[in-house]
Amino acid sequence: MTWPYVTIPEIRRAAREKLPREAWNFGDGGSETEITMRRNRRAIRRLAIRQDILVDARVLELATSLCGVPLSWPVVIAPMGGLVLFHPEGDVEMGRGAQLADTLQFLSGATGWPVEDVAKGSSGPKMFQLYHHGDRAWVADLMARVEASGYHSVVLTVDVQVYSRRERDVAARWSPREAMKIAPNPRGPDPHYPTRLTWDDVDWLRKTTKLPVGLKGIMTARDARRAIEHGVKIVWVSNHGGRQLDATQASIDALPAVVDAVAGAADIVIDGGFTRGTDVLKGLARGANVIAVGRQALWGLAVNGAPGVENALGLLREELKIAMALSGHTSIQRLTPDLVFQVD
Ligand SMILES: Cc1cc2nc3c(=O)[nH]c(=O)nc-3n(C[C@H](O)[C@H](O)[C@H](O)COP(=O)(O)O)c2cc1C
Repeated sequence: MTWPYVTIPEIRRAAREKLPREAWNFGDGGSETEITMRRNRRAIRRLAIRQDILVDARVLELATSLCGVPLSWPVVIAPMGGLVLFHPEGDVEMGRGAQLADTLQFLSGATGWPVEDVAKGSSGPKMFQLYHHGDRAWVADLMARVEASGYHSVVLTVDVQVYSRRERDVAARWSPREAMKIAPNPRGPDPHYPTRLTWDDVDWLRKTTKLPVGLKGIMTARDARRAIEHGVKIVWVSNHGGRQLDATQASIDALPAVVDAVAGAADIVIDGGFTRGTDVLKGLARGANVIAVGRQALWGLAVNGAPGVENALGLLREELKIAMALSGHTSIQRLTPDLVFQVD
């Protein structure tokens, strides 16, 4: 397979050159000092991979599943709002990219497209990310449409009690909502974000939808245990790519305690700074079932639409296979935490 972009950094650079400065900063940036965002990368970098030699690596097993949906490899596309700022066909095009890359798309609850149109726009599997805007009737209607459109599960994002200060955007006097001319939801008491959300809303959501419910934004063992008690089927370890609470832990450092707490009772997704094949291997070794990528897919979308997403994720898949063969760990189902250790 040959792609126009032959390395991962090349795609990021091309996106930076192509995008208007505001869109680049909105995608690339984090909240306040951006320490959370940098910490995600640094924590992954500080892990070394144990190298086992002389292992027959002709057959590599990458297949897995998420909440019963089979995946040919363990990387999915994280939900991202505002995709129209990066490609005119936004979420629909991202769905086509997910299909080309043979993976699953999480559609953002902040999508600019009807959920039906995204579902019809490509044939790969899809899951839905929900922002609960505080109006249960509105959410119930939306969930009925999501179910009817064939999404396989719903993941409620729980790390946006309020919208953070994305300092690059603030300094530029720019807001994604204004740039996209989004009107407030007329039925929601809070037109933006679900400040009053609690565990009661998780119970309510579980009763309201037939779909398995996940929570995105869990960072502690205590909350992971609580999620399991509340019947959650996907525990998604994330700090929103460093875009919400600044000065929190790196997601990959929060992962081991969450994995212990969940103890197999739910599937575990992680995101935050995974850009290389070795990064993916590290996240899986620490116990995630699936790695989600945000910006990596976003840059692919920005530079070349669906084929760009395929290019970006294809390189990641290629690197993952190389990492598996060179480290002597040929099946992602048999990875163990002692495969990685902290070196600096
Ligand atoms: C441009 C952009 C928009 C995002 N919008 C959403 C969103 O609507 N809902 C959500 O749960 N997370 C959203 N996120 C967070 C991602 O789902 C994911 O947690 C994060 O990007 C992962 O980190 P990575 O970009 O380093 O891979 C967004 C991220 C970006 C970069």
